[in-house]
Amino acid sequence: MTRRLVIAIDGPSGSGKSSTSKGVAQRLGLAYLDTGAMYRAVTCAFLDAGVDPSDADKVVAATVGADLEISTDPADQWVRVNGEDVTQRIREQEVSAKVSAVSTLPACRANLVERQRAIIDAAPDGIVAEGRDITTVVAPDADLRVLLTADPEVRMARRNLDLGGDVDKAILTDQVLRRDRDDSTLVNFTTAADGVVHLDGTYLTLPETIDAIVELVQGR
Ligand code: DC
Repeated sequence: MTRRLVIAIDGPSGSGKSSTSKGVAQRLGLAYLDTGAMYRAVTCAFLDAGVDPSDADKVVAATVGADLEISTDPADQWVRVNGEDVTQRIREQEVSAKVSAVSTLPACRANLVERQRAIIDAAPDGIVAEGRDITTVVAPDADLRVLLTADPEVRMARRNLDLGGDVDKAILTDQVLRRDRDDSTLVNFTTAADGVVHLDGTYLTLPETIDAIVELVQGR
């Protein structure tokens, strides 16, 4: 019997960590967890409840009370919150602009980290989990931990392509640079912690990035 394998991948917005993590999971026959989708889904929940993003107590209550279900199939990603399928909605600009209201509150993070650990533990063959604090907080004991980075111009260009290829510069700056700045107040995802492999994907294609991580797994 082969051992369960847990791979943790962190990185800033637009570093390519979602596509890379999904590709690695598919290549190795593992589950996949997009933790950013969980932060985004609870953002939908507090918006639906009419909560003001600056009302921390209510944002925490909406997070803790959220009925959250997320797919761990890398080939079929969906997420539901309080019974609503928000798979498409979590990528909309309104959610991207407000998600830091959740990710900058320690009590929200603690609740989501607990849910993420339960999902990781439940994956029978193992999982690739990606986000901002997976290598350091959620799964510091993972078999392989990678920090995937890329230069800011490349990350903004990739986010532009993700969003259809014709996005206003101000929106891209907000979605990539402003959000990273806000999110990095509680979590460090710009320098690799001890034991975390730093992979700079600025000049790598997606298949090359996936290959690099699969090679790291095979080398362990
Ligand atoms: O990776 P993403 O853009 O979908 O993440 C959405 C937001 O959630 C982003 O603002 C950072 C935050 N996040 C986080 O703080 N910790 C994680 N493990 C994953 C995402």
